[in-house]
Amino acid sequence: MDQQEIDWAKLTEIINAHRDDKWGLIPMLQKVQEKFGYIPPEAIAPVAEALQLHPSQVQGVISFYAGFTMKPKGRCVLKVCRGTACHVKGSRSILRAMKKNLNLEEGETSADYQFTLETVACLGACFLAPTMLVNHDYYGRLTPNKINSIVGIYRKDQSDG
Ligand code: FES
Repeated sequence: MDQQEIDWAKLTEIINAHRDDKWGLIPMLQKVQEKFGYIPPEAIAPVAEALQLHPSQVQGVISFYAGFTMKPKGRCVLKVCRGTACHVKGSRSILRAMKKNLNLEEGETSADYQFTLETVACLGACFLAPTMLVNHDYYGRLTPNKINSIVGIYRKDQSDG
């Protein structure tokens, strides 16, 4: 599988929950992104139709808000902090180890959609620097060696299904 399948039933359920709600566009897009990990291009026309908008208006909102993305991401999104506190504590070597382990550059997703590698400005846990976030899990006081075992956990999780 090189692309996530769209779960049309789930998409329709989200759309119907906000149909004809004039303030419903952002919540609807947030739920679509939560469910799919991104906003599938196929969602734009039905979302627009449900709110009586033009598809270009929906597209405009997606492009305006940095939190929305139309690019599919991996099941595991790894965010390495590159803020000042983490930088001072060696976040560059963490990012280097991560790139090597995953064979990905910043912003890239693996071909099997398992991993996406990103960086962030500050994760708000500077006392644990250097830090990273994997989906909703925080990791701190990282070393390049720890990276391999952390990534290993997520690889294992996924191969266990
Ligand atoms: S600078 Fe990395 S958590 Fe704040």
